[in-house]
Amino acid sequence: MNAATERLLAAVQDLSLARSLDGVMEIVRHAARDISGADGATFVLRDVDKCFYAEEDAISPLWKGSRFPMSACISGWVMLNRKTVVIEDIYADPRIPADAYRPTFVKSLAMVPIRSKAPIGAIGNYWARRYTPPPETVRLLEALANFTSIAIENADLYAGLERRVAERTSELAEVNRELESFSYSVSHDLRTPLRHMSGFMGMLREELGPSAGAQAVKFMDTVEASVKRMDGLIEALLSFSRMGRAELRRARVDLSGLVAKVRDELSGDLAGRDIEWKIGDLPEVEGDPEMLRQVLANLVGNAVKFTGTRPRAVIEIGARPGEAGRAVIFVRDNGVGFDMAYADKLFGLFQRLHLKEDFEGTGVGLANVRRIIKRHGGEVWAESAVGRGSTFCFTLAAPVKAAV
Ligand SMILES: Nc1ncnc2c1ncn2[C@@H]1O[C@H](COP(=O)(O)OP(=O)(O)OP(=O)(O)O)[C@@H](O)[C@H]1O
Ligand SMILES: [Mg+2]
Repeated sequence: MNAATERLLAAVQDLSLARSLDGVMEIVRHAARDISGADGATFVLRDVDKCFYAEEDAISPLWKGSRFPMSACISGWVMLNRKTVVIEDIYADPRIPADAYRPTFVKSLAMVPIRSKAPIGAIGNYWARRYTPPPETVRLLEALANFTSIAIENADLYAGLERRVAERTSELAEVNRELESFSYSVSHDLRTPLRHMSGFMGMLREELGPSAGAQAVKFMDTVEASVKRMDGLIEALLSFSRMGRAELRRARVDLSGLVAKVRDELSGDLAGRDIEWKIGDLPEVEGDPEMLRQVLANLVGNAVKFTGTRPRAVIEIGARPGEAGRAVIFVRDNGVGFDMAYADKLFGLFQRLHLKEDFEGTGVGLANVRRIIKRHGGEVWAESAVGRGSTFCFTLAAPVKAAV
């Protein structure tokens, strides 16, 4: 394979990756000159009835940035006639506007249309001496022009796609914001009648006093317990919603320190429990310290909670290297576990797999965890089997610093 053909192949490879018109022009202006061995190359675009000399690569300036009427330049002729031209003596050719060429070095040229059926541009090659490129070279230039046309279409499609994705994303963000403020105000408003219920229940108790029968007391207790539970759910909803609206602050976070803090906070739940802690080396990460504390508080809290029925709980917290240099942080327990068929559901709001009589909770913890991890650009997932313990893992987008 000769050097010009190899150069064409390299350009085709580059063009297949180009994502914008600018990117395409950057590749083609150099490739054309290398392939033809010319002293200059131009990338001309059709701009309605004008030829726009958009890019060039030449020994001295040509017409970059200029527009000429289609009828008054050779690139216009090439596009209108959908034909390649090779002109050895430009000053002898009536199609050439000699005045535009006089200030330049050009003596000979070869120009190929981009997209032969309905040209959208042309690639020009210019020599400072009288020269006729061999037919093979012209064919290579035509092949370059064909690939250029495909690359431009790809870039257009890509730009359209990106625009649509951006539009959808902003629509989604808007809908999300609305939902957030809706759920926030609803949760807020729900609290007022709830306060009334518990207030009047207290008054009813007083009113009935010792005359209340055992059955009536039981009913009142149940109503009060339900009011309390609903208040808990609303509080959870509010905190979930608050977290979604809170701005993400980024700082260096030492996960080991965070785990120690979380264990401290859980000390109330640890009384009377026999727990073996296995804490591995944890990396320093980039993230919002308060949000990451919530993540660990819930994962470790769950591990403590769902090992409650074990005579001796084993809870392991550690990190292992994951894909793309991102550490995987895991929290493993030897608790009751869960059926993997529901592994995805767990992360939904108020989704619980265990009865509140067996293990208390509102089911908002993992929903918060997922939201926080997503906002950090990471992933969270769980592995488990009923009765065999669970492992919850997450990654964060930011690269970890300390060795894992
Ligand atoms: N370590 C675990 N072992 C077994 N099941 C778990 C574990 N962690 C979570 N689950 C299951 O996933 C459900 C959802 O967890 P999540 O943390 O969201 O809620 P919760 O702990 O029940 O309540 P909250 O976190 O709001 O106090 C739990 O109710 C439980 O069924
Ligand atoms: Mg929880």
